[in-house]
Amino acid sequence: MPVHLNTAGAGLMSAEVVETMTAHLAEEAAEGAYETERRHEATLEKGVYEALAQVLDAPVDDLALFDSATRAWSSAVDALRFTGADRVWITPYEYAGSLILWTELRRRTGLRIEVVPLTPSGDLDLEWMRRNIREDVVAVSVPHVPSGCGIVNPVEEIGRILAPWPCLYLVDACQSVGQLDVSVREIGCDLLTGAGRKFLCGPRGTGFAAIGPRLRAVAAPVFHDLHVADMTSADNYEVHTESARRFEYAERSAAAVRGLEAALQHHLAGSDGPGTGPSPRDAVRCIVDELPSTRLIDPGTRHASIVTFVCELMPASRIRDELAARGVSVWVAQGNHTPLYLPGQGVAHGVRVSPHHYTSPQDIEVFARALREVIR
Ligand SMILES: Cc1ncc(COP(=O)(O)O)c(C=O)c1O
Repeated sequence: MPVHLNTAGAGLMSAEVVETMTAHLAEEAAEGAYETERRHEATLEKGVYEALAQVLDAPVDDLALFDSATRAWSSAVDALRFTGADRVWITPYEYAGSLILWTELRRRTGLRIEVVPLTPSGDLDLEWMRRNIREDVVAVSVPHVPSGCGIVNPVEEIGRILAPWPCLYLVDACQSVGQLDVSVREIGCDLLTGAGRKFLCGPRGTGFAAIGPRLRAVAAPVFHDLHVADMTSADNYEVHTESARRFEYAERSAAAVRGLEAALQHHLAGSDGPGTGPSPRDAVRCIVDELPSTRLIDPGTRHASIVTFVCELMPASRIRDELAARGVSVWVAQGNHTPLYLPGQGVAHGVRVSPHHYTSPQDIEVFARALREVIR
């Protein structure tokens, strides 16, 4: 089995997740998908939301499921109504998908997008935020951990700065849920989104959002699907829930949702809790840093399990391929996926190494040996 160091792409699913999904598909094939859905209604309609509520420390009514983190994000953000008088704060670590949506919203409405500056260490400048926050800042968007490097942004502290202000606080937790403690209550955000497949080790094609009551109160989703709405006459319809599920679409892969539930339960059981001793991230960072031709892209003072580097001797894609040939999976971080930060660091492509709690010291040894062979 290759050593898998690409959790930031997709983590390895546990045996429980795979068994749950394959059993579900077998039931669908034998008995019909709707019939199977009915049998597992308790999990699909309730259990998965309750497990997610525990993992995110969020009220069940705030939770909605989607088929990706981007769908979760865009379903909530695109339902907001902006005007040309509005200012939105983003950070240099914004994910490209979110930035594309902000750019589109600016085109449509004329809203102003402002980028929170960094301190020399690469941390978000919280003093600048404290000094400059005003009533006309209507939304602040922060990734907990970005796509292309391992900084952990202080989302709880930012929540405390923003709490007295009317702005909506939007947190992209795609790379943090499953590896860091994430508490919607402590962060105090109005939106938090994530994907099942990364550090939660759930299946592909799953995403989720915690959409708080303040955001729901001002959002106008363009469409409500049949699980939450009914035509009440020839020219009227009614939405029969105030919960975040009104942002969802009715059709979804029940096998994937059950796989997500299994991954959430696995996570809650602590089966993959961090071991003792140096973290896999610190070990990876040391190994990379020892090589004279590498440059770590490692801004900030707090770090998650993503180590990105460039090498002056060869392109990132070659390092990925050479490591793969030696049984080690890493990935190429595209600069243009974190477009306000990585290109400015001279990174069009970097090597992204993202171990998880299940990465063993032996795995790290294999990585170290392979990397030293590839980069001499
Ligand atoms: C920080 C961050 N946000 C959002 C996303 C989008 O997730 P998805 O591909 O599930 O839409 C990613 C994907 O890698 C990400 O790294």
